[in-house]
Amino acid sequence: MRILCWFLILIGSSWGNFDKNFRDEKTGILKFGHFIEGSLAEPFVENETELLEVSQNWMEQPLDHFNISENATWSQRYWNNTNFYNPNCFGQNCIIFLMIGGNSGINEKWISNPNVTYLQWAKKLKALVFLLEHRFYGESQPTEDLSDQNLKYLSSKQALKDIDNFIQTIKNENKDKFQNSKWVTFGGGYGGTLSAWFREKFPESSIIAIGSSGMMSFLDPKLYISKN
Ligand SMILES: *[C@@H]1O[C@H](CO)[C@@H](O)[C@H](O)[C@H]1NC(C)=O
Ligand SMILES: *[C@@H]1O[C@H](CO)[C@@H](O)[C@H](O)[C@H]1NC(C)=O
Ligand SMILES: *[C@@H]1O[C@H](CO)[C@@H](O)[C@H](O)[C@H]1NC(C)=O
Ligand SMILES: *[C@@H]1O[C@H](CO)[C@@H](O)[C@H](O)[C@H]1NC(C)=O
Ligand SMILES: *[C@@H]1O[C@H](CO)[C@@H](O)[C@H](O)[C@H]1NC(C)=O
Repeated sequence: MRILCWFLILIGSSWGNFDKNFRDEKTGILKFGHFIEGSLAEPFVENETELLEVSQNWMEQPLDHFNISENATWSQRYWNNTNFYNPNCFGQNCIIFLMIGGNSGINEKWISNPNVTYLQWAKKLKALVFLLEHRFYGESQPTEDLSDQNLKYLSSKQALKDIDNFIQTIKNENKDKFQNSKWVTFGGGYGGTLSAWFREKFPESSIIAIGSSGMMSFLDPKLYISKN
């Protein structure tokens, strides 16, 4: 009985710490990207008039990154936030954050609400920020309908290639500035898995991956157990 009591007290105290570290005291909402509503559902906003100005854009992507005779392309939705960015940055001093969308359409407040944790970090580091919607979610629809035939293009493998092509395209379009820029990827839930997976599969394209509550068991265990 005594042991059980200690056990319960232990659980109780660590749960309390969890709450203090990861939950906003005022709103009770988790701080790091995985909200009650799902991956990038609407984050809590206290004051709508304080949202930052951001711009929505579209990037052309191949429908199938693995079939060179397939020419079809589609438009992937993304946003940028230049509010914190230091336009005089050069080479490796240019830090670029990329929030990766997961299995839901994206709410713009994920890049316009300055209180979201990763944007507070962007402010500190004067980072340029992008937010990229996952293929087949929200308005990023590569095909006319969701027939079985078309859904074969919905895969993490294609999504990781979308991310890499996105980064390479931004770098190429701004060669002087961003050729040696440092990219950090973020994501929550499935988006968090993609963030870590992207670092594993395309190690040259990013320097850090941050994933909150991502499913990890199918990644190479050496990658996240390693102390280096
Ligand atoms: C951010 O948090 C501060 C402090 O709680 C609050 O005053 C402000 O309105 C918030 N901004 C937004 C956009 O919700
Ligand atoms: C919301 O933010 C604006 C701009 O900072 C401020 O003028 C206004 O008082 C705020 N509203 C509330 C309810 O705090
Ligand atoms: C590759 O794309 C071409 C052109 O759309 C198509 O005919 C072919 O079946 C595709 N191959 C595979 C393996 O999907
Ligand atoms: C893809 O583009 C090439 C070069 O423009 C063209 O020769 C080929 O017919 C196209 N394939 C399809 C399936 O449209
Ligand atoms: C970022 O947004 C600005 C407008 O705020 C736009 O002029 C610029 O082209 C955008 N850059 C990229 C790389 O999307």
